[in-house]
Amino acid sequence: MTITKTTHYRKDYQQPNYWIENVDLAFLIAPDHTLVKSRINFKIRSGADNKLSLNGIDLELNSIKLNDKVLNNDEYSVDDTHLHLFDLPDNFLLQTEVKIYPHKNTALEGLYQSGAFFLTQCEAEGFRKITYYLDRPDVLAPFTVTIVADRNKYPVLLSNGNALLEGQLSGGKHYAKWQDPHPKPSYLFALVAGDLAFVEDHYRTMEGRDVQLRVYTEAANIDACDFAMKSLINSMQWDETRFGLAYDLDQYNIVATDDFNMGAMENKGLNIFNSKYVLAKSDTATDHDFIGVEAVIGHEYFHNWTGNRVTCKDWFQLSLKEGLTVFRDQEFTSDLQSRAVKRIEDVRYLRSAQFAEDAGPMSHSVRPDSFIEINNFYTLTVYEKGSEVVRMYHTLLGEVGFQKGMKLYFERHDGMAVSCNDFRLAMADANNIDLSQFELWYSQNGTPVVAVDYQFDEQKAQFIITTKQSAPASFQGESWQPMHIPMKTALFGKDGLPLSLNKRGDTQIVLEITEATQQFVFDNISTLPVVSLFRGFSAPVKVKQEIDTKDLSFLMKFDNDDFNRWDASQLMQREVIMSRYQAVQNGVEYTFPDYLLDAFRHVLLDDGSDPALVAEAITLPALKGLMVDMEGVDVAQLHQAKEWVVSHLVNALQLEFLSVYNQNFQDGPYQVTPEQVARRSLKNRCLWFLMHTDQKEMQQLCFEQYHQSNNYTDKITALTLLVHHQVDGHEQLLADYYDNWKYNALMINKWLSIQATVPHDGVLENIESLMNHECFSMKNPNAVRSLIGAFCAANITQFHAEDGSGYQFLADNVMALDELNPQVAARMVSLFNDYKQFKPDTQMAMLTALKGIHTKANLSANVYEIVEKALKN
Ligand code: TRP
Ligand code: ZN
Repeated sequence: MTITKTTHYRKDYQQPNYWIENVDLAFLIAPDHTLVKSRINFKIRSGADNKLSLNGIDLELNSIKLNDKVLNNDEYSVDDTHLHLFDLPDNFLLQTEVKIYPHKNTALEGLYQSGAFFLTQCEAEGFRKITYYLDRPDVLAPFTVTIVADRNKYPVLLSNGNALLEGQLSGGKHYAKWQDPHPKPSYLFALVAGDLAFVEDHYRTMEGRDVQLRVYTEAANIDACDFAMKSLINSMQWDETRFGLAYDLDQYNIVATDDFNMGAMENKGLNIFNSKYVLAKSDTATDHDFIGVEAVIGHEYFHNWTGNRVTCKDWFQLSLKEGLTVFRDQEFTSDLQSRAVKRIEDVRYLRSAQFAEDAGPMSHSVRPDSFIEINNFYTLTVYEKGSEVVRMYHTLLGEVGFQKGMKLYFERHDGMAVSCNDFRLAMADANNIDLSQFELWYSQNGTPVVAVDYQFDEQKAQFIITTKQSAPASFQGESWQPMHIPMKTALFGKDGLPLSLNKRGDTQIVLEITEATQQFVFDNISTLPVVSLFRGFSAPVKVKQEIDTKDLSFLMKFDNDDFNRWDASQLMQREVIMSRYQAVQNGVEYTFPDYLLDAFRHVLLDDGSDPALVAEAITLPALKGLMVDMEGVDVAQLHQAKEWVVSHLVNALQLEFLSVYNQNFQDGPYQVTPEQVARRSLKNRCLWFLMHTDQKEMQQLCFEQYHQSNNYTDKITALTLLVHHQVDGHEQLLADYYDNWKYNALMINKWLSIQATVPHDGVLENIESLMNHECFSMKNPNAVRSLIGAFCAANITQFHAEDGSGYQFLADNVMALDELNPQVAARMVSLFNDYKQFKPDTQMAMLTALKGIHTKANLSANVYEIVEKALKN
């Protein structure tokens, strides 16, 4: 098959010639092939032409009938991507039978096999690998699905909606019939057939519907599903109380698989999950894993309203469902866990990864204007920046106004396929405000820059904030226009207390920046205040301001916005790391500043603070986050500058780190509560610093934690530190770990990642031998991400080794993987996209690797698009 590499444009949207009234599918599943029989009723869109092209890829067409009449060869045509029909009646029933080969499907898109069971993944355009169809999100239809398979091999047969019938058939076979009454686009179709175990519970919705809840997995993992079930119930409850939204079917099924391209999929009534986001027990999963399970279970559940009930008109509108649903899952986690920690983690990720994406060759707006391969646009921009855009409505309108907007959105659009504009208009109309300028958040790519300046007039008791917004360097549009930017602001007096900013006495207000240059005047300010801007990260922008270390220290102590207090600590740390880096580059002296030590000590020993926030505040900025704002980066030197800061901190504060470590030890049973998670994260952050001393006593402490702790969070932290510091005896620990846990794929993936991120020479040779280990398969995306992905994305110094070996390694593996799984290969090759940030010889080496991939024959459209854009840049 030749792969089409055509560009699709948003402006070319056209409705299909026919709508689909209903779909009836039958799957006859055999171990080495599946027959798919479809009965689809079509109805012409009034005024449209009487012809139709249905999507279909890699299908063997066995038979085709129109209104019960077998079609002759000249009444239809088939090519690599479509079935074409012409001279059609206005209403007709199309019946086809196609043959497909799920066991050969390594792309994990369409119907494929995982272990001994079968499952589907249809978003975005996988349904066309199952049968001929209008595989586009604006065609909604009710589905009835019958599955026939061997009774012993495949006892569980699932599809969307409610179970209707099941029964025995001759020849050891059985069948199940499912009906989904809610019209849906094909990307939400799902089917599962296999020998799976399940846990079951029930939930009674606020509307009085009794829903049967099941989580299915292979039998060996059935004891690790309880937390996922609890998370599902929490999600259902939360969506009722916070958003007033209830579930709309009698069954909710979740299936876990080890073979999955992404995190999870919100198929109507039948979510399919990467097992990483289902399976969790205290001795096999970390706090972070547990919270990830809860968040992703929530995310897919919340899609039932934001995505399924109201879906996308075309794939350019992807952020309509993803940005909004990420916003909802972030709020869910914030309400159940620590709001401040959640915000800090999300922003840290956005700033380092999304800002980088938006400054690189794949920079695109939240609602892209074009793509070659839609799978490449499930991006941080669509998801995370998209969520920030939704959060800005919330910041501008408040919870009440935002919920009014949501209510109107569902009143207008329930059961429809709509656009980002429809969402914006619902928010505006429900609140009677003009949000037309806000549209630019959907159309302009890049991260806006806001420069801020202050003037203080003591005589007039007046304080003025001046903002200037400007186009990001990566902006690729006609002419950049100023955007509507909410800037949450507070001013602090010398005593550390927030000043009242208006007649109502508010100490925090949202200033709305709408012009290129703008002034905000505050009266009755008698002494020069300290300013806290963009509180809680109220807009996804880069802020430029002169701020001295005294003010940063002040904000670290007094700012009552947890996020901004953390941000002040990060700015200070960043400044010291960058100063050292520049001093080394310029061959000048730079002495470690006392103020950082004082600030660190103050944060560390402040008993009043939430330990979770202390842990975040003493976590130095990651190299990725630093590099975003740099040019000509020398990775090794940047790494050394950070290590230099770490060693100063450790030398001066070892006793403090040790005492905080000891204070945060906890006995008693393990629980994933915000309090326990907080103390573990602080304790383990202290251990991270202590291990930098390379002292025997600290290594001993680490061994003790590994052997004695009652939970996986503490164990894996200790193991990682012992391995990364190459402490004597670490090889034995790794060998024992493998023997103990070799049947647990998720734990073995962690074992791979620890080894892939060893920050020392020789790591690449070890990775290459691990690729031949029995536990690794190039066909398993989790294994690929844990070994190859972890090395290239998280072992920055070794990936950027001067000899270019890291780049060659990535290029070779991208080319090998592209033959098996183009979606995952495209994610991997994107790790080259930041090449422009580095010094010239690094850039050259990365480009050479990219060019090597570009010349390979038969690249997938997925990898082609990424490489092509990177090289054009
Ligand atoms: N819609 C899914 C989510 O965000 C993600 C998704 C898109 C996906 N394409 C996929 C998952 C392909 C697996 C495979 O929840
Ligand atoms: Zn989603």
